[in-house]
Amino acid sequence: MVTVRSLFKSFEAREVLKNINLEVAQGEVVAIMGSSGGGKTTLLRCISGLIDPSKGEILVDGIDVQKQPEEARRHMGMVFQSAALFDYMSVEENVLFGIKRQLRLKPAEQMKVAESSLERVGLVDDRYKMPAELSGGMRKRVGIARAIALNPRVMLYDEPTTGLDPITAYTIDQLVIELRKDLNVTTVVVSHDLNSVFRVADRVAFLHGGELIFTGTPAQFAACQEESIQELITKSQTSVLEPHA
Ligand SMILES: Nc1ncnc2c1ncn2[C@@H]1O[C@H](COP(=O)(O)OP(=O)(O)OP(=O)(O)O)[C@@H](O)[C@H]1O
Ligand SMILES: [Mg+2]
Repeated sequence: MVTVRSLFKSFEAREVLKNINLEVAQGEVVAIMGSSGGGKTTLLRCISGLIDPSKGEILVDGIDVQKQPEEARRHMGMVFQSAALFDYMSVEENVLFGIKRQLRLKPAEQMKVAESSLERVGLVDDRYKMPAELSGGMRKRVGIARAIALNPRVMLYDEPTTGLDPITAYTIDQLVIELRKDLNVTTVVVSHDLNSVFRVADRVAFLHGGELIFTGTPAQFAACQEESIQELITKSQTSVLEPHA
């Protein structure tokens, strides 16, 4: 469903992504991990067509993202690292915004789509609230509702659980899992939260020094002897298992 072929991306002289190759099958959940500043968001933005790679090719359901960006983007829903809501619009208006622009529906039907998307993320009762009145987890859920309203075949999440408490993070993970199960949505999720990745992902892809140095199942990932991967795993375990003295 998603193919990334020999992708390179530089910002001026700085090469951020080097020869990335990745295949995501229909209905599969792939997590992209790696150190901060390692190029995870950049890769996701290339896939979504928000930025162009310097070299290489991206296909989404067979559509070339650079050659037919609008067509490709219609199949993709993106949930941003910062949720990126319009602060002057209510929850419902935020979700309606894309529906009005992208779907040719009568106003009553537009409302129905917005309502069912908000229902799915558990925010129907909060639909008249403004973003400033929402918690971080609620903001993320609005971002998810806005994306799924357009019925995408591919969902791209950038750090959906970052900055959330473990219980809220768990509910977001459940939502990611449900969307995949109920709608068979192909999913690429950028995360540095190992707990979350192990819950949602079929496969893990690990970026290091601009290269994808590992792709495999979570179990293979945990067993991988590569230094940078072991370091991440050890640190995650330490932070969970060792209480502050
Ligand atoms: N638009 C841009 N212009 C110039 N440099 C950029 C741009 N976007 C990203 N970069 C650089 O590319 C590198 C990778 O950034 P990116 O945001 O992809 O990292 P990341 O892995 O998502 O990090 P984090 O975990 O902190 O979100 C960084 O060094 C960043 O400064
Ligand atoms: Mg990022």
